[in-house]
Amino acid sequence: MRKTEVFTDWLYEWDVPQDVLDIALTHAREATYYGAVKNQTSYPEQFFGDDFDPVRDWVDARLHEIKLDLDLECEYLKSTVFWTTKSERGQWHHTHKHGFSVVSGIIYLTPSGSQTWFSRESVWAPDHTGIAIHNQEKSSLLFKRQTEVGKAIFFPSGVMHSVTQHDRTEPRHTLSFNSYVSGQIGSYSDIHSRRLLNLTVNQKQ
Ligand SMILES: [Fe+2]
Repeated sequence: MRKTEVFTDWLYEWDVPQDVLDIALTHAREATYYGAVKNQTSYPEQFFGDDFDPVRDWVDARLHEIKLDLDLECEYLKSTVFWTTKSERGQWHHTHKHGFSVVSGIIYLTPSGSQTWFSRESVWAPDHTGIAIHNQEKSSLLFKRQTEVGKAIFFPSGVMHSVTQHDRTEPRHTLSFNSYVSGQIGSYSDIHSRRLLNLTVNQKQ
């Protein structure tokens, strides 16, 4: 038997400029945290101040690169909310996805041995065959991204993801965000190009 690998896929990554990273880390350290399922999270309202604009602007510019790269049929992707996550040693993040968002992202702010795991269904999952696979690991594809300070990972918001246990004395800080389509949205087809709606993302509200 031979297995042929098919359907390569991708996420987007960038190196975050130092000035953007510094602002994000300052906000992460000064944020008020609340207990989440297995770690701690801050609320988006803490990132509405003008002093956070350089981070928001940098993320919005990267989102626009993705909109152009994917030929998305909208005028803009705009960041909607930002929040930071704090993990003490031994804390981790359960598997989840983000609703009401198109593209989400994570910026690694401090060192950790933990990994972000992204997963999606294999072509052999029940969606494509109609029969369950007893060992679920055989029906999903995993991508394990090591925490790396200064890196930003942008991914489709509906992709399941989780974070493995933090393994250091100093807490692990990350910045996350969601985004949504903004501006003119419609069909870009040559034969039935049409404007379908006009939405505005009200940032900082
Ligand atoms: Fe998440």
